[in-house]
Amino acid sequence: MDGFNISIELIQWMKDNLDGNLLELGSGEGTKELVKCFDNVYSVEDQEAYQNLYHSNYLNVPIKKYVGYHWYNREILKEKLKGIEYNAILVDGPTGSVQRQGFIKNIDLFNIKHTIPIIIDDMHRVHEQKMFNALCEMFPYRRVKHIKCKDKQASILL
Ligand SMILES: C[S@@+](CC[C@H](N)C(=O)[O-])C[C@H]1O[C@@H](n2cnc3c(N)ncnc32)[C@H](O)[C@@H]1O
Repeated sequence: MDGFNISIELIQWMKDNLDGNLLELGSGEGTKELVKCFDNVYSVEDQEAYQNLYHSNYLNVPIKKYVGYHWYNREILKEKLKGIEYNAILVDGPTGSVQRQGFIKNIDLFNIKHTIPIIIDDMHRVHEQKMFNALCEMFPYRRVKHIKCKDKQASILL
């Protein structure tokens, strides 16, 4: 596990506090641990090198250029999400160089009506902080939990 993966502290927290199915945006070695904590992990992944590695539920979706940002191809993702049920979302992709604010811009694609936990990793980055703040404004009644480790932080909207 390296800086690309979610922290051991976050994995432990997820293990202790979450169950059911996880929808993960961005897969890596951490996914190997997450499959041990959930009934099913669904991983949205754009890079071929990281697709279909740790389970059989990958949603392989290429990156597309939108006005002002790049993100997973919305139409393909929408199609692949059909019929998938999940109890938490982990936002840890696309890769940092692509940036992740597309999650907020396309939040209507996700089934977040049932107040499922939304986890934003890499909160040391400005874009992630803005995204988390936007989520907090969208859902002012929800609680917030921060999981810190020595070199990064994940924040969770509960
Ligand atoms: C932060 S990584 C996702 C990590 C994943 N959630 C985990 O905990 O292992 C974001 C993206 O970078 C790419 N990636 C994953 N592991 C990588 C690695 N070791 N080195 C470079 N890129 C990686 C994948 O395309 C992934 O979608």
